[in-house]
Amino acid sequence: MDPTLAWLPDGSPYSPRYGDVYRSHGGALAQARTVFLGGCGLPMGWEDRASCRILETGFGLGLNFLASWAAWQADERRSSQLHFVSLEAHPVSAADLLQGVQTLQARDAQELALLSRIQMLADDLARAWAGLRPGLQHWDFDDGRVRLSLGIGDVLAQLPGLPGPVDAVYLDGFSPARNPAMWSAEVIQGVARLCHPGTRLASWCVAGAVRQRLQQAGFEWRKQAGLAPKWQRLEARYLGPADTAGLRPGSAGA
Ligand SMILES: C[S@@+](CC[C@H](N)C(=O)[O-])C[C@H]1O[C@@H](n2cnc3c(N)ncnc32)[C@H](O)[C@@H]1O
Repeated sequence: MDPTLAWLPDGSPYSPRYGDVYRSHGGALAQARTVFLGGCGLPMGWEDRASCRILETGFGLGLNFLASWAAWQADERRSSQLHFVSLEAHPVSAADLLQGVQTLQARDAQELALLSRIQMLADDLARAWAGLRPGLQHWDFDDGRVRLSLGIGDVLAQLPGLPGPVDAVYLDGFSPARNPAMWSAEVIQGVARLCHPGTRLASWCVAGAVRQRLQQAGFEWRKQAGLAPKWQRLEARYLGPADTAGLRPGSAGA
């Protein structure tokens, strides 16, 4: 069996290596829109700006990238440039990227519009994927207005070489219990080094250890109502280097 990706009978992409699914069945588009884009204040956050740079830990099947690109394309007030920076240790095949899009389900008219855009953009991504190699690569789409910088390798090794500062962060490893390397204090600190005061961060993960590491790295965080099967999600904002973050409250509404 391919240790990177297997397709479960219900169509969910599953990682035999980590024993976890890449996304919740049926709710993948909602997760991308609500947990990640919404959790980082997007699309509003990029409106009327020259550029917006998003960092993601865990490129996986590229859904968060495609959903961000599609939402950006659909927004009349979008920034002039969108730069998506992501990291992946175990890239899937181009065929799996495309299957990942084909197995998405739309639950309402808004998701249907997003999905048809995503399906078109996925073909461009799959074409670029043919040139995938280890290390950092940059691919330009949409006449150079959208750039994907993809670091192929371990998150901790790749983080210091990434372009910053970033305006938004999607933390999207597998569960911390099964994939602790994606949520370590060193990784969170490496992410913080790429942020500016005001950078927004979002995750489906509200684990206490992750919240504590975020706070120690200079973020304030807030739990929000989540999407099934997770009943909470995390929103955070970078305040500045941790040594000046001092005694700021870590949470509101926790
Ligand atoms: C939940 S999936 C990401 C889903 C993805 N954001 C999407 O939109 O499809 C987590 C990803 O983290 C990757 N990963 C796990 N450990 C890693 C590590 N140490 N360094 C880099 N990537 C890692 C996995 O291979 C997997 O693709």
